[in-house]
Amino acid sequence: MTDTRSIGVFDSGIGGLTVLSALCCRLPEERFVYLGDTARLPYGTKSAETVTRYALRAAGFLAGEGIKMLVVACNTASASALPALERELPIPVIGVVTPGARAAVRWSNGPIGLIATEGTVASGAYQRAVRALRPDAEVRSRPCPLFVPLAEEGWFDHPVTRQVAGIYLQDFTGGVVDSLILGCTHYPLLKSAIAAAVGPGVHLVDSATVVAEEVAERLAGDEILGHGEGGVRLLVTDAPARIARIAAMILGDDTPPLQLVDLPA
Ligand code: DGL
Repeated sequence: MTDTRSIGVFDSGIGGLTVLSALCCRLPEERFVYLGDTARLPYGTKSAETVTRYALRAAGFLAGEGIKMLVVACNTASASALPALERELPIPVIGVVTPGARAAVRWSNGPIGLIATEGTVASGAYQRAVRALRPDAEVRSRPCPLFVPLAEEGWFDHPVTRQVAGIYLQDFTGGVVDSLILGCTHYPLLKSAIAAAVGPGVHLVDSATVVAEEVAERLAGDEILGHGEGGVRLLVTDAPARIARIAAMILGDDTPPLQLVDLPA
């Protein structure tokens, strides 16, 4: 059976475009509608209650677009709001934390590093997801809040980004961990700066490809795969012109125009 409805993808800003990009590569025959809640960014420094309220509002908006599945391309929202989203939506909801933990365990033989927003680290969601797969795993975590505005600024490998990465990541150098989970969808954009800070012995775990694989399996399992031309719509809740420049740096020349939307209260 073919299901031509779109897949909804959601983040606080541009970070989820790293997941969208992997989804488009893996599922070229699907249509995607991406919502960046740029009016409320950052989510990572806000309380779990506020993030859940924002996530429910964004998901409700996408549900109104008639989506067949929601991909929560935001670790902070996945860590705090996944149960509430699953309860409220009558469609499959896929978060990024469990796939990220699975990828880390696959790569790592020793202590695992985790960098994420303050909200994600404080939630303990990654620590739980990793230990569910490997009970004796040691997870060393560090919030890196300045990485989100640096990514939103498009300073992916800027000297300032390298300097900030050097300060944040000093505890992850010298073989202390063998892998480092990029537990915020903004962070893969800063991969070069992060890799330079931790050195070549640390494998950087980006969950985007694993998430895309999980989405493909779920679509096939639920018999809701699309077989069309594919395509992407990009929606943001603030500053489309500003975000368009950064979106093009991530998605390339085919980046569609960004549309401004307002989320109902
Ligand atoms: N990209 C989001 C994440 O994966 C959150 C960034 C933010 O709004 O703080 O956690």
